[in-house]
Amino acid sequence: MSILRRIALMLICLPGLAAPALAEDGHDLWLRYTRVEARWLAPYRAANTVVVTDWESPTLNTARDELVHGLSGLLGRSQHAVAVWPGDREYGPLPVGVTPPAFPDENGVVLIGTPKTSFLIRQWHFDLSAAGEEGYVIRSVTIEGHKATMIAANRDIGVLYGVFAYLRLLQTRQSLANLNITDAPKTKLRLLDHWDNLDRTSERGYAGLSLWNWQRLPQLDQVYTDYARANASIGINGAVLNNVNADLRIYNPEYLAKVAALANAFRPYGIKVYLAMLSSAPIQLGGLKTADPLDAGVAAWWKQEADTLYRAIPDFGGFLVKANSEGQPGPQDYGRTQADGANVMARALAPHGGVVIWRAFVYSPDNTQDRASQAYKEFVPIDGKFDSNVLVQIKNGPLDFQPREPFSPLFGALPRTNAMLEVQVTKEYLGFATHLAYLGPLYEETLKSDTHARGPGSTVAKVIDGELFGNRLTGMAGVANTGTDADWSGSIFNQANWYVFGRMAWNPEISSRAVAEEWTRQTFGNDPKVVRTAVAMMMASRQAVVNYMTPLGLNLIMGHGSHYGPAPWDDIGNRPDWKAPYYHHADAAGLGFDRTAGGSNALEQYAPEAAAKFSDKSNLDTLLWFHHVGWREKLSTGRTLWDELVVRYSDGVDQVKKMRAQWAGLKGRVDAGRFNLTARYLAIQQAEAEWWRDACLAYFQSFAKLPYPKGYKPPAHPLRYYESLNAGRNLDAALAVGLSN
Ligand code: GCU
Repeated sequence: MSILRRIALMLICLPGLAAPALAEDGHDLWLRYTRVEARWLAPYRAANTVVVTDWESPTLNTARDELVHGLSGLLGRSQHAVAVWPGDREYGPLPVGVTPPAFPDENGVVLIGTPKTSFLIRQWHFDLSAAGEEGYVIRSVTIEGHKATMIAANRDIGVLYGVFAYLRLLQTRQSLANLNITDAPKTKLRLLDHWDNLDRTSERGYAGLSLWNWQRLPQLDQVYTDYARANASIGINGAVLNNVNADLRIYNPEYLAKVAALANAFRPYGIKVYLAMLSSAPIQLGGLKTADPLDAGVAAWWKQEADTLYRAIPDFGGFLVKANSEGQPGPQDYGRTQADGANVMARALAPHGGVVIWRAFVYSPDNTQDRASQAYKEFVPIDGKFDSNVLVQIKNGPLDFQPREPFSPLFGALPRTNAMLEVQVTKEYLGFATHLAYLGPLYEETLKSDTHARGPGSTVAKVIDGELFGNRLTGMAGVANTGTDADWSGSIFNQANWYVFGRMAWNPEISSRAVAEEWTRQTFGNDPKVVRTAVAMMMASRQAVVNYMTPLGLNLIMGHGSHYGPAPWDDIGNRPDWKAPYYHHADAAGLGFDRTAGGSNALEQYAPEAAAKFSDKSNLDTLLWFHHVGWREKLSTGRTLWDELVVRYSDGVDQVKKMRAQWAGLKGRVDAGRFNLTARYLAIQQAEAEWWRDACLAYFQSFAKLPYPKGYKPPAHPLRYYESLNAGRNLDAALAVGLSN
């Protein structure tokens, strides 16, 4: 009798899935697992007759349950699962009274586990080296003459990721024959940064309240498991729970118990908890007189604080720190460098395996230099000075999550520092929840940008995955868009931004179009018309927003504080770098910020090849970011700047109209709940795109004083009318303008 036949089996019964509700609110995200079409049912059922596991752990059980849950839904039946018990020396004898049934004598076994925990997988001698710590292998095999599938990994978390990948194959209707897939994440830290406050408001969050119910914690709600599961399904492995503008009460024992409870809920899904920290904590929490990072007492306090944290949360991830930026305290308050500030914390966390994520988002009101060039000037001189467990987290562009920015020149300029990319998943500057803007192309544009730091092909992706400079500690963070809204993200299409963030953090070289299709198939089903249409809408959507908000490289002309609605005229407050004219430099001669040698010369922060690209005025995407261009100057399109501006703003509106029409054509093919919500939001988006076009053109025309090109109508109202809408403060009135056009 073969070794496999001698293996004992314990039958376990796992509950099947209920069929998904007809009226969907989006809560199931991309994990809907609805029954496949008839033609897929037979081959998929045949390939998945029984799920087999042979060891238990919280993560393996989670993987098994997910597989059973997913297959039950997709295959429209209660999925059969068994746990085998090899009964060898390592595993101990069979429990008394258990009669071992025979190994499934049929095709379609799906076996999951690791060589360490699975006797069967160990027998197979798979080469799992390419799977690394978190990756997996999915392979079609033959066991005792029967067709089977193995989902194997080196660690339990890899098995869970493998299960999600396997279910994705079914959800996107791939063949399950001859599978031979090895996949592993290219970055180590794949984090969501929640800018959540203890009162449950969320800075720049537009999907309801914060998910963390601090009042009820440490009692756990189901939503924490659902959240962790959704993250694990796309490879996210950490969550920073609180706002970077941190409220240090979260470090009080009462709150730490709540944080620990969340960590417990997330752990089976491979998600570690991190917290935002302030460098003034030794004073605020420790009662010390100073927070100078080079002070011995301060260093001792950090060590003690780290010990306390790790007692509460043994696998605590580490700190995220915003320092000397937008009023936050930092090492410069004591004449020390950003590296000094980071290292004192890093040394306290290092013995516990924790990291410090130090943000490069720094600029100061006292610094009169071009804001876009300040971070580079501060961090490049201290390259190589950070401890090995510090990452410097750099926003994708030099300013602040605009609809389009050139890549930050810091990528490629810190060869001896662990550089991590920070993007926004929430849409602070891209129309909040209601505007449809798929951010995959934005992320992809940054990741594919060539820094030329080590010659051509030195992309941002290769910087952050460690390939270019050989970093082992790598990562990507996304400012989260989750909240208590039923659909998690404020709109159905915003879920795609959460999704694509996770998939790109896992593989920074994946294509945003491929991810859009993958997401659509799982979210709306595999109807070819739906897939074609939704993907086309998504892929055009970000450029549409760029066109109707900030075409040709314009930026930061949004409503003061709210960052919503047009306000290129905004000059509120004392800080010049918080006023719109600082960024667009409109005058009688032209428009745009001169960052060439004749201006701020921020261009010199890029490698010559990248700088040459941005210097070239035919590169219209970033034209006004780098150049002050005359209103009548002819652009590469053959139009003058003024005419081009009118055309782009108008194109943006037309693109939204097109999206609306495309979506309307899907009526009856998408469930009414999600269809109607999206249709309503597209109507808002159109009205607001028109508002943007009209307000910005009225404003810029007051400088250009040129007529509208043939075929284009001037705005319905004079400039002062748009100014009076007080963008961001009176949205109802603003909306009414658009709707009346
Ligand atoms: C932007 C945003 C702030 C946020 C800051 C940051 O300026 O508007 O709300 O605090 O970025 O990234 O720290």
